[in-house]
Amino acid sequence: MRSPTIFLSSIFSVTILPAMLTCIAFFCALSGNAQKFEGLAQTPPMGWNSWNKFACDGVNETVLRETADAMAANGMQQVGYQYIVIDDCWQTGRDSAGNIIVDASKFPHGIRALADYIHSKGLKFGIYTCAGTKTCAGRPASLGYEFQDARQYAAWGVDYLKEDWCNVLPNQNAEASYTLMRDALYKAGRPVVLSLCEWGSHKPWHWATNIGHLWRSCGDIGNNWSYQEAGDGGIYGGSVISNLDLQRGLEQYAGPGHWNDPDMLEVGNGVLSPDEERSHFTLWCMLAAPLMAGNDLRTMSAATKAILTNKDVIAIDQDPLGKQGYDVYYRDDLEVFVKPLQHGDTAVCLFNRGDEPKKVDLPWSTFHIGSGRTIRDVWRGQAQGTTSSSFRGEIAKHAVILLRLSK
Ligand code: GLA
Repeated sequence: MRSPTIFLSSIFSVTILPAMLTCIAFFCALSGNAQKFEGLAQTPPMGWNSWNKFACDGVNETVLRETADAMAANGMQQVGYQYIVIDDCWQTGRDSAGNIIVDASKFPHGIRALADYIHSKGLKFGIYTCAGTKTCAGRPASLGYEFQDARQYAAWGVDYLKEDWCNVLPNQNAEASYTLMRDALYKAGRPVVLSLCEWGSHKPWHWATNIGHLWRSCGDIGNNWSYQEAGDGGIYGGSVISNLDLQRGLEQYAGPGHWNDPDMLEVGNGVLSPDEERSHFTLWCMLAAPLMAGNDLRTMSAATKAILTNKDVIAIDQDPLGKQGYDVYYRDDLEVFVKPLQHGDTAVCLFNRGDEPKKVDLPWSTFHIGSGRTIRDVWRGQAQGTTSSSFRGEIAKHAVILLRLSK
């Protein structure tokens, strides 16, 4: 027969202890104890943000509503895009109680009505603030108002918050500032994806895993393909290529619920060539980057829409394993990225960075890929033999070939 002590201790560990732990977790949650909302952004967030196309002057509720209409009607929602995010310039000041005042000339029906409209389409709603005294465009920001703003966002129905890093105090600590907003959001009680936008200045990949769901890992992208030379011979402004190159080595920090963010897409903004648009999108998918479209969804061309909605390419970005791809080969303008996928599949992207078409004839072992794997050309949607013979192909200037290998 079991002794009463053993009997009581087994009752305690089987029934009372789990109940106590559940209660502790519950009260921690109620008291807003330090944590981010878990379970969000298990794959890189997909959506649209107003900044790249509409910047400050062009953003207003009509654009946002029509963008939601377009996303719900043009196939984007079906392939996974869900967040519609207003970037800077929706706010004008604070009232005497410190509440943020919405720019009524741009959003005459207010933010709640806009959020309701976006939600009525089955989409999610995001907004922007900044950790400093003013946003990058000089609008009121959240420093000192974190808890008040977070409550306001919850009341409006905000699902996603991008928090910028302009106009911060001289020694303002980035980790502490973003932790404060995380805690404020958690306390307000509405699950929100927190997007850190401090441009990689304080290497958030080292400290933000438990604070936000994504963090910018570089400065702003520009509507340019490559590095832009400043008059003094230096480099200025971001571009597809410069932001891509800044992701090197960061793959170890990305995973479900916490992603590196090389910035929003410039696909469809009228400067990149069709091959460059396809490459930009493909490379972002190889990086498991957030896919935030940055173009006018209401008027985009069929070609742009075909890029943004290619399910097989998006599946590589959204692969549940959540691995960020990395380069395994870079010589003579040919850069080759691989991304491990679920069920032992591998995405391989051969990227011609050069200004001339490139013929490639290399054994698969060059890219550390073994023989006998079947190959599918993802953009062409065609099977293409196995890795038992060399890879042979021609890649146009600034173009990619995207392959999915299976066992
Ligand atoms: C910063 C951010 C951009 C955008 C602007 C808005 O530059 O990095 O993504 O949000 O501010 O002013």
